[in-house]
Amino acid sequence: MSTQSLYKVDADFAAKALVNNEQYQVMYQESITDPDGFWRKHGQRIDWIKPYTQIKKTSFDDRDLSINWFYDGTLNASANCLDRHLETKGDTKAIIWEGDDASEQRTLTYRELHAEVCRFANALKAQGVARGDVVTIYMPMVPEAAVAMLACARIGAVHSVVFGGFSPDSIASRIIDGKSKLVITADEGVRGGRKIPLKANIDQALNNPDVTTVERVLVLKRTGGNVNWQAGRDLWWHEACEGMADQCPAEEMGAEDPLFLLYTSGSTGNPKGVLHTTGGYLVYAAMTHEYVFDYKPGEIYWCTADVGWITGHSYMVYGPLANGATILIHEGVPNHPSPKRLGEMIDRHQVNTLYTAPTLIRALMAEGKEHFDSFSGKSLRIMGSVGEPINPEAWRWYHEVIGHGHCPIVDTWWQTETGGILITPLPGATDTKPGSATRPFFGVKPALVDNEGNILEGATEGNLVMLDSWPGQMRTVYGDHERFALTYFKTFRGMYFTGDGARRDEDGYYWITGRVDDVINVSGHRLGTAEVESALVSHELVAEAAVVGYPHDIKGQGIYAYVTLTKGTEATEELRQELRQWVRKEIGALATPDLIQWATGLPKTRSGKIMRRFLRKIAANEVTNLGDASTLADPAVIDTLIESRLNRN
Ligand code: WTA
Repeated sequence: MSTQSLYKVDADFAAKALVNNEQYQVMYQESITDPDGFWRKHGQRIDWIKPYTQIKKTSFDDRDLSINWFYDGTLNASANCLDRHLETKGDTKAIIWEGDDASEQRTLTYRELHAEVCRFANALKAQGVARGDVVTIYMPMVPEAAVAMLACARIGAVHSVVFGGFSPDSIASRIIDGKSKLVITADEGVRGGRKIPLKANIDQALNNPDVTTVERVLVLKRTGGNVNWQAGRDLWWHEACEGMADQCPAEEMGAEDPLFLLYTSGSTGNPKGVLHTTGGYLVYAAMTHEYVFDYKPGEIYWCTADVGWITGHSYMVYGPLANGATILIHEGVPNHPSPKRLGEMIDRHQVNTLYTAPTLIRALMAEGKEHFDSFSGKSLRIMGSVGEPINPEAWRWYHEVIGHGHCPIVDTWWQTETGGILITPLPGATDTKPGSATRPFFGVKPALVDNEGNILEGATEGNLVMLDSWPGQMRTVYGDHERFALTYFKTFRGMYFTGDGARRDEDGYYWITGRVDDVINVSGHRLGTAEVESALVSHELVAEAAVVGYPHDIKGQGIYAYVTLTKGTEATEELRQELRQWVRKEIGALATPDLIQWATGLPKTRSGKIMRRFLRKIAANEVTNLGDASTLADPAVIDTLIESRLNRN
């Protein structure tokens, strides 16, 4: 193995780890040569009501696409996260919660969490929610967010969590697509010292005349702030729970019954409802949580992701709770009120595992390591990274300043669609290289292909695909199976296309290079450039817009918009600010363009197609080698755009 910048697994660590390198090799081989046998065994890690006899029936043929795992078994995800721990772990903390203001602290044992979930599940039933109904959850980071998800799972309802930073329009489109009858929210959320008007956003979303399905809104009283109330529709969470029993039978669900929907952005169209089912998802989330974080009973595990993203689903709620872990939930942001907060929380709660995103690490790095002078970090054993490529400088800083040079880092690559981690080091098994997600997890068969779909061997670079299914894979795009086939299985026939590019080095390690489609990744949040463009052109003064990502020191990628105004409109600074606010209002703060360049024309082919590669290069300030512009209808626009470019870094 090449030794440049290699962080070797510590022998003592490996000796105590769940999996060392030899075991990884053996288990990986087994998982690939005999997937049925491998998963037949590992599927038993969760409790089944009726045990499965069938393991895997999957086809990646886009004309006959189907993905089924453990498909004749029955189970309940909430019972797996709660009931089965009651006997041995009833008094163990399931959740430690710290408010945005650190003076607010709460804990819930597994017994208490079970009772809360049952009460709320009974309340949902009393409100008419039945098996198969879609429930929209728009919540702050409080224990009740997990309670709401698990209560849905308990009664067989399908939750659709919408990130609390999304705008009323974004909420409305998700409610419409999912045909939700019921919405769960809070009066307000609190983040970084600011109140977030969650209920008001829901009110506005429900005012949209196209939202016709919602009958009931359950509202958690979090801050006690003023809210508007629509009698007959709105009901307080605590009132809905009044008199409800703290026992609620768990519905017997088929392994392939839906567990949740989660909307995510792609290169075209509206965000897609990614559908995950019950059995395979839970097996995969629990198993990856245990192996990737080398989880040991009694450990305290902190994932900083919001529950509105897939990481919050698989690695804050379902995976760790299925394993009986104690999870830390933080309401706010880990660098507020000061960069010290992260370290203080790790020490205060004796966190053993930290799972966070490169964007936070880069933000802390920019603040300076002196904020960690009084940080002990003694409890920390393992640190994870997720959501975007981690640059080697940030990796090393994370390793040294937070991990004191001895905590293994697991750089985990995966997607909303994959349900769980696919490419990652295992802390006791894999020597790491800063910036590489390293090797596939058990049962995962990655490959690199060229643009024609030919599989490339050896050390090379290409489009990242998966050649076979794994239990946590999404099953369909909600209500649009054809779109599922088209988006993921048609580009390269018979393979799952991730939309990412990657390099594989001489040791077989994967280095994710980023999206190769029109998706950008801003602070680990996925956005389609088409979504931002359509928000911009919906403004009456915008004639045309093209949006690309550009390298950003903290966020990984920033949003760069080229905007052509309607004839006669004056390009003023005020208008630029107005457009930024406009996009924010249309989609949410995370979609706010960082830079808006006024463009009198965009580089188009003679048939009118925008040549985005020129725009990406100009936005990245790479203007010397732009390539052949002769196919453009008007090559002169390039020079004009270069002259007035905004990013000169
Ligand atoms: C990117 C988040 C590099 C990637 C779990 C992927 C990463 C997209 C990594 C999915 C990583 C995620 N290294 N890139 N460790 N993890 N990505 O659906 O481009 O929000 O396709 O899921 O994030 O984002 P999503």
